[in-house]
Amino acid sequence: MRGAADIVKMIGNGKGRDIRPRPDFAPRPLPPDAPIGDRWKSVLARVPSRFRAHRLPLVAGLVARGAAVAEARAALEALVRGELLVVTLVGRSEAGKTSLVGALVALLCELADAGDARAGVLARGLLWTDELALSRARASHKLGDGEAPLVERAVAAPLVVLDDLGQPTAGGQDEVIEVIWRRHQEERPLILTTGQPREKLTPRYGDGIYRRIARDRSARVIRCAEAKPKAEEGGAA
Ligand SMILES: Nc1ncnc2c1ncn2[C@@H]1O[C@H](COP(=O)(O)OP(=O)(O)OP(=O)(O)O)[C@@H](O)[C@H]1O
Ligand SMILES: [Mg+2]
Repeated sequence: MRGAADIVKMIGNGKGRDIRPRPDFAPRPLPPDAPIGDRWKSVLARVPSRFRAHRLPLVAGLVARGAAVAEARAALEALVRGELLVVTLVGRSEAGKTSLVGALVALLCELADAGDARAGVLARGLLWTDELALSRARASHKLGDGEAPLVERAVAAPLVVLDDLGQPTAGGQDEVIEVIWRRHQEERPLILTTGQPREKLTPRYGDGIYRRIARDRSARVIRCAEAKPKAEEGGAA
C-alpha cells in the first residue's frame, strides 16, 4: 500500500518536484485577529493559493537569509511612494521569489488598511498574472477583435505582478514585451519575478526591456537565494 508521502511524490507540484512542506516553512491560514482588514481579502484572493498565507516574517528564513526580505519591503514602500516603477525579484528556482511577492501583496494590503491612500489604489487595482496566461489570452483571442482583454488589463491595471518572466510558453513573448513597455511608458508600477539570467532575457525580450526591468534607476533588483541549512546543501540530486 502506498503512503501519503509516496502519493505526494507521485503527484509532485507540476514541476516534477516534491511538494512536502519544508520543516522550517509551514504557511498557515490567517489567524482570526489578522491585521489585514476584511475589505482587503478580495485583493489577497488574487494571489495564487499556494502563496496567499505568506507574510514577510514567514518567508524571512527562506530568501537570502532575510536580506532580500528587508530589501523587498523597502522596494515596495518606494513603489507605493512612486519612487520606483519596477521591482524585479531574481534567483534560481525555489529561491522563494513568488513566496516573497505573495508576502509583498499582504504588506501592500496592510499599508492600505493603515490608511495609505496610494497603497489602497495599487492594492485594489492589483492584477496577478504570468507570461503563459498572457500568451494564451492573446492566442485564443480572435484576430481582428482588438486586443485580448487580459493583455489590456495587464497594460492598464494600477499594479501588475508578472510571475516567472521567461517561463516557456507556446506562443511568442510579444505580449509580455508590450505589457512591460507600455506600462513603463505610462509610469505604471510592476513587480516581476524571473529565474532567468541576463543572457537568456536579453535575446528573448531585447535590451530595452532588460534595461527597464533591471538597469534603470526606476527599477530595483532583489536577489533571492534559498536559505538552506548547510547540512541540506548539495543533498538531493
Ligand atoms: N505553501 C507552501 N507550502 C510549503 N512549501 C512552500 C509553499 N510555498 C512555497 N514553498 C516552498 O518554498 C520554496 C520557495 O518556493 P517559491 O515558489 O516561492 O520559489 P520561486 O523562487 O518562486 O521558484 P520558481 O522559480 O520555481 O517559481 C520552495 O521550496 C517551495 O516548495
Ligand atoms: Mg515562482
